[in-house]
Amino acid sequence: ARRSVHRQRMGRIGGRGVACDNASRKCAYCEWLMASDTDDLFAAALAVQANAHAPYSHFRVGAAVRTASGRVFSGCNVENAAYPQGSCAEAGAISAMVAAGESVIVAVLTVCDGEAIGTCCGGCRQRLREFASGNTPIYAAGPEGVRATFTLDELLPHSFGPEHLSEFQQ
Ligand code: THU
Repeated sequence: ARRSVHRQRMGRIGGRGVACDNASRKCAYCEWLMASDTDDLFAAALAVQANAHAPYSHFRVGAAVRTASGRVFSGCNVENAAYPQGSCAEAGAISAMVAAGESVIVAVLTVCDGEAIGTCCGGCRQRLREFASGNTPIYAAGPEGVRATFTLDELLPHSFGPEHLSEFQQ
């Protein structure tokens, strides 16, 4: 049933990974489809990881986010000789997304090297919190593919977000 409603809304436009009505939250099938398809996110993150500027840590990270419209934005970490000025891969992907006029993240994937599961740093969890939902999947990948899946709520429980400020704004 979910699928047929999704198809009706899709009409002749769109395709795999594209929301039927540009607002995936209105369609459970879209939400599932877009969140569960990690191939393009992985490909985008892996490609951009190769461009990471990480001459100090040598820890190269690639990140990709999918938005409600189905577009994928990616970023890599960019370190700096003045160490605190470096930025994370997730921050780069978010900047690219916002620069393109988008603001609803429906899935996130990061890729890094090494044996461990490389989850987003604390600061990036909060950065993602601005644009994603508690149930948004965050995939942690190694060079071979996805190693673990978390929701944003799992990585950042009891989080602070834009709605906490709304009653103070006019
Ligand atoms: N890094 C990221 O890009 N994302 C994370 O979530 C974890 C850390 C980068 C920052 C720095 O360039 C390098 O990894 C080592 O911390």
